[in-house]
Amino acid sequence: TLRFAVFGHPVAHSLSPQIHAAFARELSIALEYTAIDATAETFPDALARFAAAGGAGANVTLPLKQQAAALCGSLGDGARRSGAVNTLVRSNGGWHGENTDGRGLVRDLTERHGLDLRQRRTLLIGAGGAARGVAPALLEAGIGDLFVVNRTPERADALADTLGEPARVHPRYLADLASLGEFDLIVHATSATRDAALPALPMSLVGTRAAAVDVNYGEVAIPFLAWARAAGARDAIDGLGMLVEQAAESFRLWHGRRPATDEVYAGLRERYA
Ligand code: ATR
Repeated sequence: TLRFAVFGHPVAHSLSPQIHAAFARELSIALEYTAIDATAETFPDALARFAAAGGAGANVTLPLKQQAAALCGSLGDGARRSGAVNTLVRSNGGWHGENTDGRGLVRDLTERHGLDLRQRRTLLIGAGGAARGVAPALLEAGIGDLFVVNRTPERADALADTLGEPARVHPRYLADLASLGEFDLIVHATSATRDAALPALPMSLVGTRAAAVDVNYGEVAIPFLAWARAAGARDAIDGLGMLVEQAAESFRLWHGRRPATDEVYAGLRERYA
């Protein structure tokens, strides 16, 4: 039986084990997929033990995505551009790192929600691991200009630098949001609503055809999506579909086949309405 795991902290409530178990049943692949709690301090050792025990692949969630990139012997394009890894593939006695978050998000928005992302003037709120994971795929999907704001402005600058498209990617101050005009796509990728309040966002950000997307799901996504609906966003979309689609992309990297996702998504949606 092939061994897989998701590493993170906290990780006990991760939905990844059940999503991968469902995909494995669907495609009749025998595998074990567990959740392993690891902090920044314990992650390198925990990952080494997992590899020694025959671990074939892993997902990495917060707060370990940027650290995971540093532990990889090789990186895929998206992972290199974002500096964050959510998928590890055993390779040549080490780990190859990929980031499927962005492709998962784009697939959810375009296929499941039917959005055309091309030329959308886009605001990305946050510059941590989650924001880094989705930014390259959004640019590849053909969005228009990308504005990045973050509580710590240096991290927005650093993300913009890494993306390497200065004509298209613009770091700005959170405090200057009111002067940035309207957006067609607003992506909330901070962890603020996990333990604190959503940063103050002017309603003037929301254009008439705007889609608002939170990369979180469940309770954590409620404040931003409520703000977006109140501000008149046409679409308000949580990160549950992205979660399922990034898992399917990881599954494809490990097993060479992409599972169908609608049934798993529908099952989870009943619990996270
Ligand atoms: P993740 O993997 O969830 O992105 P992370 O890499 O720790 O986790 O990044 C957290 C993000 O949420 C960062 O953009 C962080 O802003 P800073 O770079 O200034 O730390 C943002 N964030 C966390 N708490 C916040 C708060 N209370 N207000 C605004 N932004 C917050």
